[in-house]
Amino acid sequence: MSCFLGLDLGTSAVKALIVDETERVQAEAEEKLPTEHPAPLASEQDPNAWWRAVQAALTRLHREAPAAMAAVDAIGLAGQMHAAVLLDAADRPVRPAMLWNDGRAHAEAAALQRLGDDLAAELGVRALAGFTGPKLMWLARHEPAALGRACALLLPKDLIRLHLTGERATDPSDAAGTWLLDEAKRSWSARAIAAVGLDPALLPPIVEGSAPCGTVRPEIAARFGLRPGVVVAAGGGDTMVGGVGIGAVEEGGAFVGLSTSAQLFVAAAAHRPAPAQLVHAFCHAVPGRWCQMAAMLNGAGVLAAFARVLGDADIAALLAEAEARFAGPGRLLVLPYLSGERTPHDDPHARGVVFGLTADTTRADLVQAALEGVAFSFADARDALAAGGTRIAAAGIVGGGARSAFWARLIASVLGMPLNIYAGGARGPAFGAARLARLARGRDDPAAVLVTPPVQRVIVPDPALADAYAPRIAAFRRLYRALRPEFAT
Ligand code: XUL
Repeated sequence: MSCFLGLDLGTSAVKALIVDETERVQAEAEEKLPTEHPAPLASEQDPNAWWRAVQAALTRLHREAPAAMAAVDAIGLAGQMHAAVLLDAADRPVRPAMLWNDGRAHAEAAALQRLGDDLAAELGVRALAGFTGPKLMWLARHEPAALGRACALLLPKDLIRLHLTGERATDPSDAAGTWLLDEAKRSWSARAIAAVGLDPALLPPIVEGSAPCGTVRPEIAARFGLRPGVVVAAGGGDTMVGGVGIGAVEEGGAFVGLSTSAQLFVAAAAHRPAPAQLVHAFCHAVPGRWCQMAAMLNGAGVLAAFARVLGDADIAALLAEAEARFAGPGRLLVLPYLSGERTPHDDPHARGVVFGLTADTTRADLVQAALEGVAFSFADARDALAAGGTRIAAAGIVGGGARSAFWARLIASVLGMPLNIYAGGARGPAFGAARLARLARGRDDPAAVLVTPPVQRVIVPDPALADAYAPRIAAFRRLYRALRPEFAT
């Protein structure tokens, strides 16, 4: 038996998945990750906790599925994007990682935006606060000693590679999220490096996501029951690797991503920037492919936050209750911007809002409004892509949020497009990472691996619901516009 191990360093958890050559899942493990918010706009994780979580997941796989672990031919990596992982001379993190939804570098991002849309087009999108480059400028201004100790910059999943193999490298799709990459050339941008004021010696080499990038060190292989010499693929950013998992790699291949964050993603055969729309035109995780995505900071994380506020309620139970009581658009409006927003607002200061509470508001009303708020943000995402010239007729839906056909129906209706739920679609980037592992082994034709999995269910838009939602979406947009000045104060 040959197996492939996919590791996804997400924001809420590390997910590890072993598939065999028929892509049947042989074993999986998940380890939760905490996020800290030590200051206004801050969102941080301890990079050492990432590696501890990966080791815990590998330990579980080794204990529960030793035969599958021993059959692993290659490992693939996916990870949350945009964090600045700075390492000292001994490869220790110089400080906690500022994450993709950390909004502190807004002044630095604004300064980089003033350099113009020509540079933004080269880098795929206007500079936004959560990107690595602006965060490095923020560190230079606010924590120069920490930045001064840094000898290397990596993205989150690259730190896992460093632990597994000893190699320092990244890939084009993750490098894309730094705002330091010339997206068309798939190499570091001298203009951006100069604009950010970064020492280029900190940057790692770039290896295509499906190419081999090191082998597992003997002591790690022995500890987790892996064969010696297991290859590690370069891997990619979580959204792009999610696309790999559902075969969204050819022109027009699209999906709704609903993990902690949210994306409307379309694969592209060329780099097609639309910086004014805040569309992220980034490299894909496979060679010769790019993507366009509307990137939202608030996806299934909104539902998780509501569940926590509602007394650590069980999310599946909340969804079931909201679905059972659903009778068309609710009277509440939720702005889902708990972490600020990128597409279409570029507003790190935005925050969540529940509007329209009455004495008889129920828990189900709140949950429905949260689901609707995220669905409405997908209408903005669709419009941002359309304004940049990209229209989508149908899409897949992936990520943890894809487990709810009810939520998918709301989103399909708001978007006016059918959404395909794939077998295993909720597994997301870990599954795509296992595919990159397989390609890195070097024996398979990429076209035979990068296929679309069987469609389990098509969620069709409900035109009556779409009509009923149209005025609610208009009200949602008015509410944001009215509050935008308030968020900034
Ligand atoms: C994409 C983005 C998220 C993060 C976290 O731009 O910010 O997908 O990678 O999942």
